[in-house]
Amino acid sequence: MSGIVVVGAGQAGASLAARLRADGYDGKLTLIGEEHAPPYQRPPLSKKYLLGEMPLERLYLRPESFYEDNGIDLRTDCRVDAVDTRERVAILGSEALRYEKLAFTTGAVPRRLPPAIGGLLGGVHVVRNLRDVDRIAAEVREGGRVLIVGGGYIGLEAAAVARGLGMEVTLVEMAERVLQRVAAPETSEYFRALHREHGVDLREGVGLECLTGETRVSGARLTDGTELELDLVIVGIGVAPATELAEATGLVLDNGIAVDTFGRTFDPHIWAAGDCASFPWRGGRIRLESVQNAIDQAELVARNMLGAEAPYDPKIWFWSDQYDTKLQIAGLNTGYDRIVVRPGESAGSVSHWYYAGDRLLAVDAMNDARAYMVGKRLIDGGRSADPAAIADPATVLKGLLR
Ligand code: APR
Repeated sequence: MSGIVVVGAGQAGASLAARLRADGYDGKLTLIGEEHAPPYQRPPLSKKYLLGEMPLERLYLRPESFYEDNGIDLRTDCRVDAVDTRERVAILGSEALRYEKLAFTTGAVPRRLPPAIGGLLGGVHVVRNLRDVDRIAAEVREGGRVLIVGGGYIGLEAAAVARGLGMEVTLVEMAERVLQRVAAPETSEYFRALHREHGVDLREGVGLECLTGETRVSGARLTDGTELELDLVIVGIGVAPATELAEATGLVLDNGIAVDTFGRTFDPHIWAAGDCASFPWRGGRIRLESVQNAIDQAELVARNMLGAEAPYDPKIWFWSDQYDTKLQIAGLNTGYDRIVVRPGESAGSVSHWYYAGDRLLAVDAMNDARAYMVGKRLIDGGRSADPAAIADPATVLKGLLR
């Protein structure tokens, strides 16, 4: 009997399988994940979970019984070795699993430091999986010295948690400013100041030359010549879409597995969603690394697998928690040519509005839920707002939604 096979049991895979059942699919359904745990939320890994403020069970997206109760054959600790698109079978070791439709929800893999500069030493960790974070948690201790490589969201969130756990934190960002890839200089400035206030030794325009140590890391040399003594290294230097299996399957890749607006690949029986997939957007193609995209695109693919033919219209938002700052981002800022800064109502509250000409593209809101909410509604509705009105603290934001 063939059915639907979902390859990858992260947020996208779990959402896809659950939506298929919720929408009445009653055929065979297999969800395959290489990790040991049932599908879980990743965002808390670099935040509350690492801080020890969230128990393991609360990470799980659904109770463990959900899968059996819903006739979802969840295979953990299990890898798909190959997909034969002619025979329509997924190969798992000695098993050949027939499929009518198959989805790739393989996510993304963290970039690692090259072995030649000490990337394989003990005590050097990426932050992507539960296992990575459990290993870090076992090695953190008050007064320990940690080097964080990379000043993206992962590195900054890890820095905040490490400070919260009483560690001495050095963070190096190779680019000239933290968050350079994703945010405006104003937002970088906010987070640079925040981390320095909390005692992080934050260095920009400085890379890692090498890590030192016999089997375990004990030090680092930075590109500015600084030598550090260390107990632990956390690496947050970006992720790449997990496309190895898709490539071996012969699917088209273009910054991830290329899908059409319905989430289908060039093979009519194969779909993809989440961090691993790039999709058409405003005349180009984008790939989003966000939970909301993983859920929404996966649910759309589920519906389209059942024949809905619904195009994908992403509602783009992200968030990050660092110390007591909640950053909420609406929209994608690609192509912006100016920033409008709007002070919030309380201390430490401010929002940065990205414009291309008069068109509002995105908002970064720091401890300003109202600015975020209004910005998001405008952007999701394809609307803009007069930059002068945004900049004027006297403007009542909600009034702009009318
Ligand atoms: N030394 C110092 N910095 C480096 C090095 C290096 N050798 N290599 C890369 N960097 C810096 C980059 O310049 C960049 O600012 O690391 C940063 C990585 O940032 P991102 O690419 O945004 O990736 P990361 O923070 O790892 O997040 C990965 O996980 O939670 C999600 O939103 C997050 O989608 C993102 C993904």
